[in-house]
Amino acid sequence: MTTTPDELVRLAKEARGHAYVPYSGFSVGAALLCRDGKIYQGCNIENAAFGPTICAERTAFFKAVYDGEREFEAIAVVGGRAGEEITGLFPPCGVCRQVMREFCDLDFKLYLGREDNRWEERTLGELLPMSFSPADMR
Ligand code: THU
Repeated sequence: MTTTPDELVRLAKEARGHAYVPYSGFSVGAALLCRDGKIYQGCNIENAAFGPTICAERTAFFKAVYDGEREFEAIAVVGGRAGEEITGLFPPCGVCRQVMREFCDLDFKLYLGREDNRWEERTLGELLPMSFSPADMR
């Protein structure tokens, strides 16, 4: 991988600073590494109607897919109380895991940020076992 996990987590933290979270006060940042080396950052963007809120991971994916990206290597995700340091590991929600599965194989890597610049590595297969994927549409 051209970008190190540490760098990807750093970019996810930077993205977290862009979050629009007037309702939850919980800011999330993501940094998505494409196979061609490009990186797309995303943050959560909330809405007064709640339902239209979008997570940081999907913001990053949809930006990348719009630009024509279809192959992805890894994503770093961090979350915590807005304006505060992160205090623990942030696991992506089920909807975002399913969006990842649309475009990624089970060996897609996730770097889940935690306190003190630490992170934990997981694969999409670990987070979404027995998943429904495009290959199942037959
Ligand atoms: N959120 C994300 O950005 N990613 C996730 O995977 C789960 C939750 C956001 C949505 C909402 O703005 C806030 O975190 C609290 O749920």
